[in-house]
Order: sequence, then C-alpha cells, then structure tokens
Amino acid sequence: MSRLVVVSNRVGPLRGATKAGGLAVALADALRTRRGLWFGWSGEVRDGPQGHEVQAQSLGGVTRAVIDLTSTEHDDYYNGFANRCLWPLFHFRLDLATFDRRYYEGYQRANQRFAQALTPLLRDDDLIWVHDYHLLPFGETLRDMGARQRLGFFLHIPWPVREILTALPHHEHLVRALFSYDLVGFQTEADLLRFQDYVLREAGGSQRGNRLYAYGRSVIAQAYPIGIDTDQFATLAASDEAGHEAAKLKAAIFDRTQIVGVDRLDYTKGLPERFQAYEKLLELYPEAHGQVSFLQIAPTSRGEVQEYIDIRHQLDALAGHINGRFAQLDWTPLRYINRAITRRQLAGIYRASRIGLVTPLRDGMNLVAKEYVAAQDPDNPGVLVLSRFAGSAKQMAAALIVNPYDPVGVAEAIETARHMPLAQRRDRHRALMHELRRSDVASWSQNFLTALDHAVAAVPPGVPA
Ligand code: ADP
Ligand code: G6P
Repeated sequence: MSRLVVVSNRVGPLRGATKAGGLAVALADALRTRRGLWFGWSGEVRDGPQGHEVQAQSLGGVTRAVIDLTSTEHDDYYNGFANRCLWPLFHFRLDLATFDRRYYEGYQRANQRFAQALTPLLRDDDLIWVHDYHLLPFGETLRDMGARQRLGFFLHIPWPVREILTALPHHEHLVRALFSYDLVGFQTEADLLRFQDYVLREAGGSQRGNRLYAYGRSVIAQAYPIGIDTDQFATLAASDEAGHEAAKLKAAIFDRTQIVGVDRLDYTKGLPERFQAYEKLLELYPEAHGQVSFLQIAPTSRGEVQEYIDIRHQLDALAGHINGRFAQLDWTPLRYINRAITRRQLAGIYRASRIGLVTPLRDGMNLVAKEYVAAQDPDNPGVLVLSRFAGSAKQMAAALIVNPYDPVGVAEAIETARHMPLAQRRDRHRALMHELRRSDVASWSQNFLTALDHAVAAVPPGVPA
C-alpha cells in the first residue's frame, strides 16, 4: 500500500484527534493505516529564517510536518486571496469578494513555498491528497517541480456557478491548475455539475464518463459527500460526561424547549437571518414566550478579515435587540456565546436540544447538521431544521428543510418541530441515522483513496483536448 501524504492549510493534531473531531479524525485514521505524512501550515505567523524551516514530529507511524507563514503570506494568501476572495466567491457572495492582484500573487507564492518545503519529504510511490480552496494550484506547482506521484484534490466548499466564477480575474488559471491532479472530488453532485459546466462551456472541454478533457490534459471529477464518525459521536453523546453537560444546560433553562445553533461566526452560516427568524417566531406565536430558549454558539473565526468583523457587529446588535424586545424578568429568549466548546460539551448540548437550527445561506456540506442528528437519543430524538442550501440537505431529506432567506418559513418550521409527535420524530431520526451510518467519514476517505489509487494520469492518445 502506498504511503499517504495529506496536504491542507490547517493540520490536525496527531494526539487527541477525537477531541478535535471531524476531518482530523477521518484523516488521522487514514494516515495511521497508511503510515502517512500530514503537511501544512503550523498556525503560527513568524518573520525571518526560522519560519522557513519544516517542523516535523512523528507519533504512531504518522508524521506531522508544518511550516510557519510570514506576516505577508498570512495577510495576502490566508486572509487575502483565500478568505476575502475565494471563500466569498465560492459561496456565491460576489458582493463580498475583494479582487486584489497582491492577494493573488501572495497566494501563488505561498503555494510555491508549501510545494518547495514538501518536495524533499516525498517518496516516488506516495499517494498525495490535497485539501480545499487554499491549495487549488498546489498540484500544478508540485508537478512543475517534477512530482510524478498520484495527486488527488478534494474541495470542502461549494463549487460556484460559471457566471460567478468567471468574475474572478484568474479563473482560467485556477481551473487549469486543477487538471494537474489525477482526481478532483467535490461535496455534492450539484458542485460536480457546476464544475463540468465550466469545463464544457467556458474552457471548451469535453467529457467521457467521469473524465473531463481540457487544456490538453484530463482529470477524473467525482462527488464524494463527506460524513462524520457517526457511531463514535453517538456514543460520546450517550456517555455520562456528555449527560453531565446536558443536565447542566437543562438546569439552566428549566423545562423550556431548547433550540440550538452551532457555527463558526461566518456570513455563510445565515446567522442574522436565523436571529430574524427567531424574532419572527416570537412575534407570530406569543404562546411560545417563556416556553423556548435559543442558544447560539458561534466562535469568532478569521477575526482579522473586515467582512467577519462586520457580521459580528451585526449579530451583537441583533441579539441585543431581540432580548431587549422580548425578555422577561425570568426569561432570556436568546443566549449568544462567542466561544468554542469541547466535543463533549457539544455532544451534550446537541442531545439536550429539542430543535437543531442549521440554516446556512450556502455550505459545502455542514457537519453540524450531521453531528446534531447523531447526538440525539433514538427513543426521544430532537428535530433538525436544515437549510436547502447546505450540501447535506440532499442526504438529509428527513429533516425539516427550509429556505433560510424566508424568516416566516423558518419560524413555521420551528413551530412544527416544537409540536412534532414522538412517533414522527423517531421515524425521521431513524431515516437520517440510516444515511449517516451508510456514508460516514471513514467510507468517504476510503472511497476517495480507492479511486485515487486506481486513477491513471495519462491522457489517452487521440483524445480531444
Ligand atoms: P465549517 O467547516 O464551515 O466550519 P461544518 O459544520 O462543516 O462547518 O464544520 C464545523 C465543525 O466545527 C463541526 O465539527 C463543529 O462541531 C465544529 N464547531 C463549530 N462550532 C463550534 C464551537 N463553538 N465549539 C466547538 N466546535 C465547533
Ligand atoms: C472550513 C474550511 C476549512 C477551514 C475551516 C476553518 O471548514 O473548508 O478549510 O480549515 O473552515 O477555517 P480556518 O480559516 O480557521 O482554517
């Protein structure tokens, strides 16, 4: 079996991956099986020669190798091109995207420096798996430096519609760079279709099965919806420690119906719209006053980026407004917390919440939706209210699917969830769990890596370019 090399902007811990959750667990398992290497950014910013050194550490056959970013790289590559240009654009927010040549050049340079640092660590038969929008050109850069290994790429965020993507001055170069990989994976069929649409219509390429041809190259493109570690998370949520967290929460809200939202503080998550929908609920259903309690946990994310500072101010104001308007001496309608919490607390809070609100305006997959369902007590499960614009909506049709732009519709769904009979809650939960078990995170990484193992790089002779 080839050694696995994972490349991503953030590198998970080798120890305590269960605590970190999500992707860190999935990749740590695959890395352990294939005695692999995980390479990326250390999370530190450092100017001067030290920052250029690779810091490597091994544990249980897995190596973690990282480099620091310089402050210019942090500004131009991470905050700049990745998070002020690609992130909003790929989430359909052309209005929030900043196009700055300096950002783009910094992005290319950071990708080159990552590739230079990784190259000496590579072996000829490695299987290299690159992750997410920070590293779109990474494969091409590695190939330019002589890499011949199989190279796969997985995009964790949505692929945008052609009309939006073509507003990006460098769209052609970035899409062409993806053709240096042997396999490119997307979260959903809809993302894959939008990618194919670009290749066929904008790049004048062609398609045979799942292989796309353009720029004199070819690549296999497929959808691989990511999952969670369903059984492990369900076990954690049923544990005594999580039960302790659930009991603390219940004591704080008495017998009220707990509604919960858990998201990075990001404008893609539809948080102002969600707050407005909750306000609508309180406006339309006065009988809900004193009966419900909404807890929103939203840790600050990418806090140096102006658009994230703006959304935080907006939410502070909205939270104050809703509580000012509806609170009573013995009832706070909305509790809003800007902190990250532990996996154990998270699992307990999900389980103690009768309603999970996951209402992004656009999201690659959304793992919170899956975690909320996995954490429920199967005998008395809560109800998931899920945006149709989350990548997970297709797999989770048994949730209450809503349009996050419609506050009245979301308020009505919350009201439906509040009164949903036990038998219906159980039926929906069973259907959702069936799907979550069928496509968990282990099968996601296995499916991708098996396809990459078998991917053949060469363009067959006589094939249209
Ligand atoms: P995104 O990748 O855009 O942040 P996802 O929903 O796919 O959205 O994944 C978010 C992950 O971060 C989930 O595993 C979730 O449990 C975790 N997370 C989100 N908010 C918090 C928080 N306040 N504390 C701890 N973990 C969190
Ligand atoms: C999303 C992205 C990831 C990113 C994460 C946290 O899930 O798809 O690539 O790591 O958000 O964002 P941050 O900017 O803190 O890495």
